[in-house]
Amino acid sequence: MQKVKIALLGLGNVGKGVWKILNMNKDEILKRSGYDIEISKILVRDINKERNLEVPKELFTTNFEEIIEDDSIEILVEVMGGVEPAIDYMLQGMRRKKHIVTANKMAIATNAEILFKTSREEGVMFHYEGSVGGGIPIIHGLNDNLVANKIEEVIGIINGTTNYILTKMTHEKISFREALAEAQNKGYAEADPTSDVEAFDAVYKLCILSSLAFDTVVNVNSIYREGITNIKPIDIEYAREFGYVIKLLGIIKEVNGELELRVHPTMIPAEHPLANVNDSFNAIFLKGNAVGDLMLYGRGAGELPTGSAVVGDIVSILRNKDKFAYHTYLENDQYREVRDMEKVQCEYYIRITVKDKPGVLGEISSIFGENNVSILSVIQKGKREEQVSLVFITHSTVEQNINNSINMISALEDSEKIENVIRIENLATN
Ligand code: NAP
Ligand code: HSE
Repeated sequence: MQKVKIALLGLGNVGKGVWKILNMNKDEILKRSGYDIEISKILVRDINKERNLEVPKELFTTNFEEIIEDDSIEILVEVMGGVEPAIDYMLQGMRRKKHIVTANKMAIATNAEILFKTSREEGVMFHYEGSVGGGIPIIHGLNDNLVANKIEEVIGIINGTTNYILTKMTHEKISFREALAEAQNKGYAEADPTSDVEAFDAVYKLCILSSLAFDTVVNVNSIYREGITNIKPIDIEYAREFGYVIKLLGIIKEVNGELELRVHPTMIPAEHPLANVNDSFNAIFLKGNAVGDLMLYGRGAGELPTGSAVVGDIVSILRNKDKFAYHTYLENDQYREVRDMEKVQCEYYIRITVKDKPGVLGEISSIFGENNVSILSVIQKGKREEQVSLVFITHSTVEQNINNSINMISALEDSEKIENVIRIENLATN
């Protein structure tokens, strides 16, 4: 049995998952990879931190030089997160002919070109299955199993923390803050959870998915982003009344040769399979022109599910260690136009607080009419106090019409506040 030495850069949620899996499934991994994997160094910030894990003290270091200078270490597993020094360490590793495994979507989405170019030039493998969908094998799926297809559409729940929060707010009526704290305790959230709740994390993942699915280079800043911090319990309740569930969706569609790339809270029919993806689960629904509809479902965050993807990548490297593995991501120079959000077409939920006066509903309805927005339903709720809540569901229209209407309604004297505008995707349920 051959031995291989690897180093972990980071021993947080994901690093611990990798450590545990390599220990608990040692025999299977040995049989399947042909290698006895030894973690010979672990880079951390604080050696004395309590980790609730039995790790020999001598493995820890805070000095990356000890790892990069050790030529017996063949694989670096970057699970520290952030852009720097993670990218610098990965590039240094590649230049010393070390293969790299990472779960760092932020680093890939923002610095893909240099990472893939360097791995190609240095002839080392660069694997990143844990970067999207936690334990779901979507990266290898797109890179290998689905390469026969022209992908037409990808719609996914690709952030475990926000899905956990929305699930808890919907089913247990607990507050946003409480649900976020639980997601943090369970190890789903990023070091800075703003990345999750404001949807930056989902945007990084969508960037990686769109590049793979559409063989294109995607600038992460061209992806529309809206987080879940403005979703209130009352919106969830209205959604339920109308037969919808609110999910943070990542959407990639090809429309007239342009790519629609957007991440935002979305109302979807309560009976659609994505509406029943709960807690930290993720699901990626895609359409391929050969495979048809396909949905991949699994734990999208957490130490063992993500560790499963990372260890899978380590084994892939061991199985191909002496060969050069080809990765399509950014191996081309095709840029695709990203569709302007104003051209996006869907139905809309609009909640407005207005003064409770005769004629207000009429004024607002006229504005929608002037802008070619047709109303499907309207609900007015209030207690005959000074203000009432008006909720509109529109027929399908382009976003520009909605934006123009909202601007005009905001300027009305009797309109107090546009509380929320949520896109509705009436996904087919059969
Ligand atoms: P984490 O719990 O915050 O752990 C980060 C680890 O990296 C810690 O052990 C920390 O050391 C170490 N570290 C950070 N910066 C360092 C530096 N400059 N020098 C040395 N060590 C440093 O993070 P995580 O949740 O495991 O996430 C790690 C990566 O996986 C991120 O890229 C994240 O986006 C990605 N990811 C996470 C999940 C998940 O469910 N959590 C799922 C998929 C992908 P100390 O322990 O000493 O502080
Ligand atoms: N913070 C991320 C999430 C981790 O909640 O989905 C998995 O990438």
